[in-house]
Amino acid sequence: MQKLSIRKAAERDEALYELLLLADPSREIVDDYLARGECYTAWTSDELAGVYVLLKTRPKTVEIVNIAVNESMQNNGIGRRLIEEAMNKAKQMGAATIEIGTGNSSIGQLALYQKCGFRLQAIDHDFFIRHYEEEIFENGIQCRDMVRLYADI
Ligand code: ACO
Repeated sequence: MQKLSIRKAAERDEALYELLLLADPSREIVDDYLARGECYTAWTSDELAGVYVLLKTRPKTVEIVNIAVNESMQNNGIGRRLIEEAMNKAKQMGAATIEIGTGNSSIGQLALYQKCGFRLQAIDHDFFIRHYEEEIFENGIQCRDMVRLYADI
């Protein structure tokens, strides 16, 4: 895998939003957690490769509220690397648990998170119906429910 340098996002430009919106189609929701959370970007020598955003949600709990890899660089291990970094960073923030949520239709993401040690925790039924104006379909499945996962760190 290419060498990656990961650092706190310095500016919120359109290239950053392009990535964030891959993971979450609502700019309003993205802006809400960007204002409250910590955003990290991963760079190859000259290109923005990925992003993740961490949010403290409860005492000793941090959630990865957004994670995305540049479409042209997906399936090369960068997502796994970002999750490992996010887990380390959450530990440094004093968390004992890290959480992540994704759609019922996000089959690859559910696989990846479990490969990284996350376990299923709960289902937030109709989350995407309640919070997103447009219907979302992936893998031929309507995205309705948020599957919540957690890992002890
Ligand atoms: N079945 C089994 N395993 C699968 C499947 C599947 N259908 N699809 C993917 N995987 C596995 C791969 O085999 C691989 O596992 P491995 O590490 O054992 O080889 C892993 O998932 C993919 O790993 P990476 O290459 O590290 O992931 P990538 O760099 O492509 O990043 C990400 C993953 C971030 C989900 C990327 O695809 C992306 O940006 N997608 C669009 C945005 C998105 O959906 N973000 C997450 C939304 S949820 C949230 O943000 C909280």
